[in-house]
Amino acid sequence: MLFSRSAAVRTPAEIAVMRRAGRVVAEMHDRIRVAIAPGVSTGELDRIGREVLRDRGATSNFLGYHGYPAVICASPNSMVVHGIPSDDTILREGDIISIDCGAVVDGWHGDAAFTAPVGEVPPEALRLIEVTHASLDAAIEVMVAGNRLGDIGHAVSSVAEAAGFSVVEGYTGHAIGRAMHESPNVPNVGRPATGPKLRAGNVLAVEPMLVIGDPDTDVLDDDWSVVSADGTWAAHAEHTIAITENGPEVLTLP
Ligand code: MF3
Ligand code: CO
Repeated sequence: MLFSRSAAVRTPAEIAVMRRAGRVVAEMHDRIRVAIAPGVSTGELDRIGREVLRDRGATSNFLGYHGYPAVICASPNSMVVHGIPSDDTILREGDIISIDCGAVVDGWHGDAAFTAPVGEVPPEALRLIEVTHASLDAAIEVMVAGNRLGDIGHAVSSVAEAAGFSVVEGYTGHAIGRAMHESPNVPNVGRPATGPKLRAGNVLAVEPMLVIGDPDTDVLDDDWSVVSADGTWAAHAEHTIAITENGPEVLTLP
C-alpha cells in the first residue's frame, strides 16, 4: 500500500501501561473461555467481561463505540466478527464461538480475540480454529523491526491458503494505543517486503478472520453482525503486539 502511514512509536513506559491493559483483556479471555459450554448465553459471557473490567478498574473500549451495546463481541458459527451478546443467544454443542474483548487502562487500549469450540465440534470446524490461531502466530513471528507491514498480511494469508481456507475481505487489524483503532490498518493479505517499515515501539492489533468457503461477507439487520455470505464457519483470532528491540511482545497475554 503506497501511501499507508507508519504506526506511532511508543516509549517503553507507554508500552508498560499497554501491557496492563493487555493483561486485563487476557483475564477477560481466561474467565470467558472456561465459561463457554452448551446452554450458556453470550449475554452471560458479556457479564463476565464486565466483571473483570470492574474488578481491575479498567473501562471498556467496545461499550458505546459507535453505539455498540456490550463489552465483548460474541460471534457464533458463520458470524465472522461484531456479534452482539444476548441472553437469547444460547451456545449449543457443536457450535464454534469467536470472542473479542477490549480494555482501557489509564487511557491506553488493549484488544484481542479467540475462537473456541463448544463441546464436540466437526473436525473441519476445529481445523479452521487451529489454522486461524496458527495464522496469527505466523504473523507475530514476522513482527520484527525492519520488516514491513506487507509481511504481516503475507504471513496470515500464506497459512490460511495453505490450509485451503479464505481470508475474509474488507476487514483488517489496526495500530492501537491511545485509541482502539489507529492508523495504519493491518491487512490480512499483503506482498512481502512492501508497505511501511515496522519499527521498535509500534503496537499493532493483528486479527486474522478466516472462513471455510467464500471470502464474501454480509452485515445483518442489526448493522453490526458480520456473517460469511455463504453461511459456512468463520473464525477470528487477535492479539495486541508490541514490536520491541528484542522482537515481538504479545501484550494481551496473562
Ligand atoms: N475488537 C474489534 C476490532 O478489533 C472492535 C470491536 S467493535 C466494537 O476492531 F464495536 F465492539 F467495539
Ligand atoms: Co481489533
